[in-house]
Parts: sequence; structure tokens; C-alpha cells
Amino acid sequence: MTDSASRNVVRLRGDGIGPEIADAVELVLDAAGADIAWQDYPAGEKAIAEFGEPLPQSTIDAIKEAGVALKSPIATPIGTGFRSVNVQLRKALDLYANYRPVRSIPGVHGRFENVDLIVIRENTEGLYSGLEHEITPGVVTSLKVSTRAASMRIAEFAFSLAERAGRKKISAVHKANILKLSDGLALQCYREVAAQHPEIAYEERIIDATAMALVLKPEQFDVLVMENLYGDIISDLCAGLIGGLGLAPSGNYGENVAVFEAVHGTAPDIAGQGIANPTALLLSAVEMLEYIGKRTISQQVRDATLKTLSDGKCRTADLGGKASTMEFAEAIASNIK
Ligand code: NAI
Repeated sequence: MTDSASRNVVRLRGDGIGPEIADAVELVLDAAGADIAWQDYPAGEKAIAEFGEPLPQSTIDAIKEAGVALKSPIATPIGTGFRSVNVQLRKALDLYANYRPVRSIPGVHGRFENVDLIVIRENTEGLYSGLEHEITPGVVTSLKVSTRAASMRIAEFAFSLAERAGRKKISAVHKANILKLSDGLALQCYREVAAQHPEIAYEERIIDATAMALVLKPEQFDVLVMENLYGDIISDLCAGLIGGLGLAPSGNYGENVAVFEAVHGTAPDIAGQGIANPTALLLSAVEMLEYIGKRTISQQVRDATLKTLSDGKCRTADLGGKASTMEFAEAIASNIK
């Protein structure tokens, strides 16, 4: 795939602010000449209304066929109702590695200005296995699953990514002092893979202490690898270090397929007002462009996005500005070189 070839990408426009930020991304990618043929497929609330289920098989099949998707946030009811579409998608496509780069954006005031780290989260097991049982009224259990296969695979993903990206250190995050068997097995696998990569420094850190270290001195971290639930929490914490969820991109990788999405949710409190910040979905699209081989365009869109944010003349309300979602997208489009 070259920068100039047209490429099919499945798009899930999502719920809440999802469609608004998807339109903004389309505007910017069109301006950059990315030549993406968007294939819109249903998921979430609209899919339930139309097909009676939040993630129709036709949507999963289309992503398998295209090999890549850009997904806007999808609403999940808490405590009841259908299983999270995000969790279902990860299972159905075996998207085992969640990749979340977290970098300070010059001129955007986060709590820190020197953050440049990557969180790699195991996406398929742990407490997200969905094995919950009511033993008797008032007593429930949730099973945390840890397998050698999944721990080896995520460790290999993290080390090879660190190698490709020229990163220097991997921190394995765990709670093996308490969860001796499940997190102990994961650590054993991380160590085995670390031994095959002597050029990358390897350390182990307990999850609670890691949370404190991240908010005190995030610049000491480079690449962090961890199981599912820890990764879910730590990656949102990391987004907070650089100015919030509106700025945090992510990719979910399987063997021959990847789904890119913003870290934030559907923001029901601002949906329909046209004021959402599209940066996270746009930076996720930047990762997607890189993945499908459109590297030059990926870099151009990233540079234009960062320039627009750094200039500070045109920003959405979450960053203290007055621009609408589409005005901000147009400003980015006008900065593409
Ligand atoms: P949320 O991320 O939607 O909102 C948290 C706060 O951040 C809100 O004040 C919101 O206005 C703000 N915010 C989020 N994204 C923003 C953006 N792009 N621009 C400006 N402000 C933004 O989290 P919440 O409220 O916990 O979840 C709402 C729904 O989203 C739930 O149904 C949840 O299940 C779903 N969700 C979906 C995700 C996904 O599809 N990947 C991830 C997280 C939540």
C-alpha cells in the first residue's frame, strides 16, 4: 500500500458525539488527500434499533474483510443490558493488543509537558472474560483468567513494538504480590520475552505504586505493558497527564486486523451540540493511516493537528476555546502542508 492508493476502511460512526467527530475526521483526511473509501456499518444504539443487536455479524465480517476499521465511541449501559460492543469486537476479531501512545502536545496545558510514553494493554482476558456468577443472592464472583498464550503474545507485541519504535525500556505492571498465580504467570512470560531482547531495559512495578509514580514523575516511563483491567485504568490516568480524554488516541491490533478508536466515550453531556473535540479520533486515524501504509499523509495530518493545537487560535471548549467541532477540523485542514 502506498500513499496514493485508495483504501477501504470500515467506519463505525458510534453513539453520542461519535458521528460529529467522525465527520470532522473525514473532512481532515479528505483535505489531506488520504483517499479513504469509508464503509459505514452499524454498531451500538442504532444497530439495536435496526437489527435488535448492538454488533451485527455483518459488521464483524466487514472489518475482517477490510482488515481495518475506525471506530467512534459506542454507549454501554452500566450494570445491565447488552455486553459492551467494545469488548465483543475485541473478542470477535481477537484484537489482543491495545496500544495507547500518550504524548504531551506543545502549547496544550496538561499537568505535565514532558510525557512521551506508550501503554500496551492485554485486551482479551483478565477480569474482562465476562465470567461472572451469582453463587447465591448477595454473593457474586468474577473470574480473572490469565493464560500463558495471551501473556506471551502481549509481551512479544510490546517488545517488538518497542524495538521498532526505538524505545529503551519496558515496565511490566502487575499485582503479583497478591495475585500470585494469575499475575505471577504473566510476569513469568514477560521475563522470558525480555530475556530475548537484552537491548531493551526491563523492570517490574506494582500497579498501585505505578499509579503514584505516573502522577508524580511520568517522564521516567517509556513503554508500559499490563493485563486488561490495569491497562484500562492506567491508560485513562495517562490521558489525564496530557490534558484529558479528548486528546488520547488508541489502536487495537490482532494478527491481520486493527481497529482504531479514541479512548474517550460518547460524551452524552455534550452530544448533538457540535462542540466535541475530534483530536483523539483524528490522532487514532493518524495511527490508522500509518498502519495501512499511508505514512506521508499520516505525518502531514499529525503535524497539522499539533500545529493547530499549539497555535491556540482555534480550539474546542474542552481546551478553553470557542470553536465548534467542524471549525476546528477546518482549521486543521487549512494547516495541512
Ligand atoms: P466520556 O468519555 O463519554 O465522558 C467523560 C467526560 O469527558 C464528559 O464530561 C465528556 O463531555 C468529556 N469528553 C469526552 N470526550 C470528549 C471529547 N471528544 N471532547 C470534549 N469532551 C469530551 O465517559 P462516560 O461519560 O463515562 O461514558 C459515556 C458513555 O460512553 C458510556 O455509555 C460508556 O459506556 C461509553 N464509553 C465508550 C467507550 C468506547 O466506545 N470506546 C469508551 C468509554 C466510554
